[in-house]
Amino acid sequence: MKRFRAGVIGAGFIGAVHIEQLRRLGNVEVAALVKTTGPREKAEALCVPAAYTDYREMIDREELDAVHICTPNSTHFEMAMYALEKGLHVICEKPMTCTVAEAEELNRKAREKGLVNAINFNCRFYPMVYQIREMAKAGELGDIFTVHGSYLQDWLYLDTDYSWRLEPELSGESRAFADIGSHWIDLVQFVTGLRVTGVLADFAVFHKNRKKPLKPIDTYSGMALRPEDYRLTPVKTEDYAAVLFRLENGARGCCTVSQVFAGRKNQMVVEIGGSRCAVRWDSENSNALWIGRRGSANNELVKDPSILCAATAGITGYPGGHVEGFPDTFKQNFKKVYDAIAGGIPDSPDYATFEDGLREMILNDRIVQSAREQRWLDL
Ligand SMILES: NC(=O)c1ccc[n+]([C@@H]2O[C@H](COP(=O)([O-])OP(=O)(O)OC[C@H]3O[C@@H](n4cnc5c(N)ncnc54)[C@H](O)[C@@H]3O)[C@@H](O)[C@H]2O)c1
Repeated sequence: MKRFRAGVIGAGFIGAVHIEQLRRLGNVEVAALVKTTGPREKAEALCVPAAYTDYREMIDREELDAVHICTPNSTHFEMAMYALEKGLHVICEKPMTCTVAEAEELNRKAREKGLVNAINFNCRFYPMVYQIREMAKAGELGDIFTVHGSYLQDWLYLDTDYSWRLEPELSGESRAFADIGSHWIDLVQFVTGLRVTGVLADFAVFHKNRKKPLKPIDTYSGMALRPEDYRLTPVKTEDYAAVLFRLENGARGCCTVSQVFAGRKNQMVVEIGGSRCAVRWDSENSNALWIGRRGSANNELVKDPSILCAATAGITGYPGGHVEGFPDTFKQNFKKVYDAIAGGIPDSPDYATFEDGLREMILNDRIVQSAREQRWLDL
């Protein structure tokens, strides 16, 4: 088996997940990480041999095969461009960039270089999500009539909740949709094989101002913050997005995204209504797939590679009854990406490419415009 050296840029929440899940592949050594503050301590804690504050220095020194970009969205473009120029394969977190123009340029550069380019739309690799795709491909859903669902979180519920994601200069013009709605719509297009052709969006900002901490506070709450600890900061990006979709076969879709929905920590629900059956998948019960029928009993298909489609079994790590979830989706996604690095890029990869990332950026751009202008827009 070919062995690879990877560098991870950004070692906050998701960078640490990349490091953990890369190690499960067995043939990828995480050689170094980059972090703006405290890189050595983080590298020590995660047993990564080398630590840097500047990604260029890591790329220039470490003889890497690939980099994983796990930093705030506004930095993805320059980092991916630098890595591609240096001949490295790139796995970039979503959303791909902050603007469509940047995503276009990166996509062009990746093609020109012939390097593997991936966007981490990891949710494609929940076994029961992949199973929906296999069912759709085999015609088991019939013609798709409708798709609906939601992506809900509560980590920005209070006006004392703050993150770089609230700042458009770091995160982009859209927040809730670009951050989590992008996963939902990527998943829908992946499983149905249908592209979105039109959108109508409605955005809302419920906390018009938030209390931005002036010093690092690990767990900050209204109780912990005194007036001298924060600055009241206006919020420009949406807490909530509702989007109606048209899909290329004439199907209709609708999705609600909120980062201020109490009690839902990170829940994605997708329901698809086809002419032969309907399916429902909920990330909070991710090892089950509900199948609804008109003329016979509904079923619940549970994750068990011995009864799933062969391709789904191929991305399933454990036998039935052994729960798989969020971290496993990263492992399965990275396995497909490193197989492409080892053996060549397939014609139509399962992992999301820069092309998919670009399409998602265009979709996102239209959604922001639609919300602003309150009208349907075609893609
Ligand atoms: N696929 C998923 O499920 C998923 C989940 C969470 C986040 N993300 C994406 O991952 C990215 C990071 O999000 P996060 O939640 O881990 O953020 P975070 O704030 O927890 O971590 C960001 C990290 O980037 C580092 N960093 C910032 N600027 C840097 C720079 N110029 N050079 C080097 N390091 C720098 C910070 O030191 C920190 O370690 C975002 O693009 C986000 O959308 C994806």
